[in-house]
Amino acid sequence: MKLKEPITIKNMTIPNRIAMAPFANYPREINGSVNDLTIRWYEERAKGGVGLIMHGPVRIMPEHVAGFKKLNDVIHKYGVKMGVQVVGGGPMSGQGPSPSPFPDAAHARLGLFEYQTGQNIPVKELSIEEIEQIENGLAFIAANCKAAGFDSVQLHCTHGSASLASAFVSPYYNRRTDKYGGNWTNRMRFAVNVIRKMRKALGDDYPIMVRISADNLLGKKGVTIEDTCKYVVPALEEAGVDCFDVSQGSMTHTTQGIILPMYYPRGCFIYLAEAVKKVTKLPVIGVGRIVDMEMAERFLQEGKADIIYMGRQLAADPDTPKKYFEGRSDEIRKCCGCVYREVQEGGGMGICGRPCAINYDIQDNPIPLTKAAKPKKVLVVGGGVGGMEAARIAALRGHKVTLVEKESGLGGMVAALADTPMTAEFRNILDYLGVQMRKQGVDVRLCKEVDEAFVAELKPDVVIAAAGSSMLVPEIAQGKHGVMDHIQAVKNWRAIGHRVVIWGLVAAELAISLAEQGRDVVMIGRGGEETLARDDPWARHYYLFRKLTDVNIPRETPEAQRIYNPEIIYHVDVKEVANGIIKIEDRDGGTRELPYDTLIISRERASNNALFDRLQGKAPEVYKIGDCAGVADIKAAIWSANEVARKI
Ligand SMILES: Cc1cc2nc3c(=O)[nH]c(=O)nc-3n(C[C@H](O)[C@H](O)[C@H](O)COP(=O)(O)O)c2cc1C
Repeated sequence: MKLKEPITIKNMTIPNRIAMAPFANYPREINGSVNDLTIRWYEERAKGGVGLIMHGPVRIMPEHVAGFKKLNDVIHKYGVKMGVQVVGGGPMSGQGPSPSPFPDAAHARLGLFEYQTGQNIPVKELSIEEIEQIENGLAFIAANCKAAGFDSVQLHCTHGSASLASAFVSPYYNRRTDKYGGNWTNRMRFAVNVIRKMRKALGDDYPIMVRISADNLLGKKGVTIEDTCKYVVPALEEAGVDCFDVSQGSMTHTTQGIILPMYYPRGCFIYLAEAVKKVTKLPVIGVGRIVDMEMAERFLQEGKADIIYMGRQLAADPDTPKKYFEGRSDEIRKCCGCVYREVQEGGGMGICGRPCAINYDIQDNPIPLTKAAKPKKVLVVGGGVGGMEAARIAALRGHKVTLVEKESGLGGMVAALADTPMTAEFRNILDYLGVQMRKQGVDVRLCKEVDEAFVAELKPDVVIAAAGSSMLVPEIAQGKHGVMDHIQAVKNWRAIGHRVVIWGLVAAELAISLAEQGRDVVMIGRGGEETLARDDPWARHYYLFRKLTDVNIPRETPEAQRIYNPEIIYHVDVKEVANGIIKIEDRDGGTRELPYDTLIISRERASNNALFDRLQGKAPEVYKIGDCAGVADIKAAIWSANEVARKI
């Protein structure tokens, strides 16, 4: 097994070939120093069996060294090596090689952050003196990292606008005409200088890595993989780096290259690492939606990379390497690529990793998972992700659990998402929970509707109602030809006709999936563009907007082009549904008739909580969780399941 082979880079020997990719949003104090949560966050991953952890970006000053030393001492106890990213902020944080991060005024201006915040971030052009100061500052921080016990330092020279070094390299962000701009030697100068200064500060034996954006994914306007192989790799190698970490994209303009939603196939960017490997003898790290260890092993066998990064996968399941090495692959909870994001109390932003929608334990203060003081008989009603998670946790705690589902299969609402081609990766959480039902000995009963008689017979101590929610079909469409709600439609995919109208603007992924299979799809809704794909988180939303609207965002590559099937009609009311025709009216009173074979309703959902109400007093403890308690998302279902099941 290649994955288990150690690899030596300068004076660092990494025990295996799985490494944790760097995350900016690791827990820490506001001033950047380490706290108990930082240690716990990395220790969880170290326990899980990775060989190397790449700590997210730091600005370690002498006063922070002792704290980071403590962190490194803890991680080193597990035999795991610790690298650390050092970054000079780029255009995204308001400074760059050139005043504005766009190649020309006519070009699409909106990057992800501007698009999301509605602000155009001004970028200050750095002077030569300022650039030299930053070069020296980065070498100083690197020296502090070494003093703090890190085994390696990595220059962040990736993701375009996210990093100064990367922005200097890219013609998209760098339009200077002095010695830091223009030709390749000049655009490489900043990164090369930093590496040389780091080398001087760190000594010859100490491993220095560099993370590059092998392709900015901005077509010929940015760095291409050909440029990387011809100019970037040789220049950095000559400057003295010891390992290439190959990422891609540009944070504000093509963010899905970096944090890929599930729409991108697993491991789809490994070809970039493979291309870099062909032009260097140094070790190469590959990354990008690699969620299964079998794929990681295959990439190593095929010589596409020397080390495999996992990022979000180790957020979803920190024990991924360990489970695989122990022959328990089927117990791995795989990342769904949902790019979860939430606004937190106090206005902070939580993005995937912190928290991860499917890993309750990733949060700062989870309720501990302990054995129950007294084993109880637990009945879970409903086998969606909330119900299965509650059953898993209750069983792990020693309770005797029966889970009853009225349908013929488990999965509930998430099964519908998993059956939609664009979001098929939601299958990952269902597979995980399904296996857990068996391994934890949950008594699963399908095709069974729970009623008072059933509860009276089973005599559970605890009932957890997890009956989910139902889609509401407006009266005007009820019982009409070819009408299905979103869930029914996905479950009866083959019955969906050629001409499809989707009533509701949230179901963009369903619409695109149907269109991609050759159906003619129209989406209609009362709202405007702001309601399109409203429930989809940031990177998915951005992707969907690029596909479905004319919003002024970069579309430099073929897959970023706009498509016209589905057609989208905003600001309309439905006036009539009859004989395979839906009649709509716009705000000016204009009407249009849309013929359809299938009319899919995807609008509001309502909690199925009637049973919960009926079961009050029929068992000593009755709870409701997930959509049954309030229509929300997967994270809410998983969280509410844990909050109940960890306490009973
Ligand atoms: C929340 C989040 C924060 C990230 N922060 C950084 C960062 O600070 N530096 C960096 O180079 N990459 C960063 N990345 C990119 C990851 O290192 C990794 O390349 C990416 O998540 C793709 O790998 P994955 O599909 O295995 O998650 C971040 C990714 C996520 C999801």
